[in-house]
Amino acid sequence: MSSIIEEVVARKIFNSRGRKTIEVDIITEDGFGSAAAPAGASTGKAEVVSYPEGGVEAALEKFEELVVPELIGMDAEEQSDIDALLHEIDDTLNFSNIGGNTAFAVSLANAEAAATSFDLPLFKYLSGCVGNELPYPLGNVLGGGKHVLGKTTDIQEYLVIPLNASSFAEAAAANVKVHAKVGRLLKKTCKRFTGGRGDEGAWAPNIANEDALAIVSQACQEVSDEMDVECRPCLDVAASSFYDAKKGVYVYSMDSKNRDSGEQLEFMLQLIEEYNLAYVEDPFDEDDYDSFAELTKKATNCLICGDDLFVTNRDRLAKGIEMGAGNSLIVKVNQIGTLTDALETTKLAKWAGYVPVMSHRSGETVDTHLAHLAVGFGCPVIKTGVLHGERVAKINELNRIEENLGNRAQMSIL
Ligand code: PGA
Ligand code: ZN
Repeated sequence: MSSIIEEVVARKIFNSRGRKTIEVDIITEDGFGSAAAPAGASTGKAEVVSYPEGGVEAALEKFEELVVPELIGMDAEEQSDIDALLHEIDDTLNFSNIGGNTAFAVSLANAEAAATSFDLPLFKYLSGCVGNELPYPLGNVLGGGKHVLGKTTDIQEYLVIPLNASSFAEAAAANVKVHAKVGRLLKKTCKRFTGGRGDEGAWAPNIANEDALAIVSQACQEVSDEMDVECRPCLDVAASSFYDAKKGVYVYSMDSKNRDSGEQLEFMLQLIEEYNLAYVEDPFDEDDYDSFAELTKKATNCLICGDDLFVTNRDRLAKGIEMGAGNSLIVKVNQIGTLTDALETTKLAKWAGYVPVMSHRSGETVDTHLAHLAVGFGCPVIKTGVLHGERVAKINELNRIEENLGNRAQMSIL
């Protein structure tokens, strides 16, 4: 079996927002891999640059000129060499030359091409054939912020995690139930609710921030009573997206209220305690390590997760670990560019006792690799939405992985 790269092709396709993105195919003597890059809307400042100036078209030109000639003849099995080569070709600190999304698509397509060269599914290849733990799905059921067009909650995402589910299939079913219940509760309480949904398939009602949490919390309780799972509400505040740096306040438009850092800390603690939140992502501005550390110290029984804070970057995570900022991090491979970089950050997180959460982006395609990355990297949680084809694609792939593992399959320890 040979994993020598024979052909590399890139094209532009549409993502779930109707925007252009890059898809890369890698063909080896005995294998084939193909991956498409996702896109953020509430991106972190410290992420790598998705595309060079000129967008996807410019990235495709650079790909042909700089990347293709170097890749042909390389061995796809040597993932870290391929990823190091991408850095070398790019020759910047943030992939602004070839584009982080090009690096991402090449890196992931390469891993799949290597896996198929050896007749292995990607999750098995990535985990050295030992990965058998399914992640808990963290599902977005209600939201606003930068993921919707109109006037909705300032807090970006209200999510559910079905703890104690005995299988991934059961966990996924619980999330679908909570999503449906939230819809029915919104129909009852908001007269003008149209059933509109945001980029990630979450309901997008015109409602005050805490009222939304009360509804999600009620839906979680009802599903917990009906099923043998503990559905707990969670938040992705995405606080940088409504932080006014000049005034030093978080602007809650739906509540006609500003909160300074201290008030924001109190507010987050109140929500965590009152609604028994299991997880809070980005509760503060992306550079406010101190407040993250303060909240992590004070909150009990709740994951405090950094997305825009860490941007899957090893150095930013190392700083967070040193300061005690957070106890969980989001892993979005295209925030950092390559699989090797993302794996290093994930390993550091695990070493420090931080829970890594493999995550989609608000702009996605039906690419299902995220499911494999979650199991292959050993992430106990996957954040990939509940509804809409591009989200369900990942959930369904995890159902297939669970089936593939048979009686070796087990839920992660969380
Ligand atoms: P994104 O953010 O829009 O950058 O993908 C989603 C998130 O904040 O988790
Ligand atoms: Zn986030």
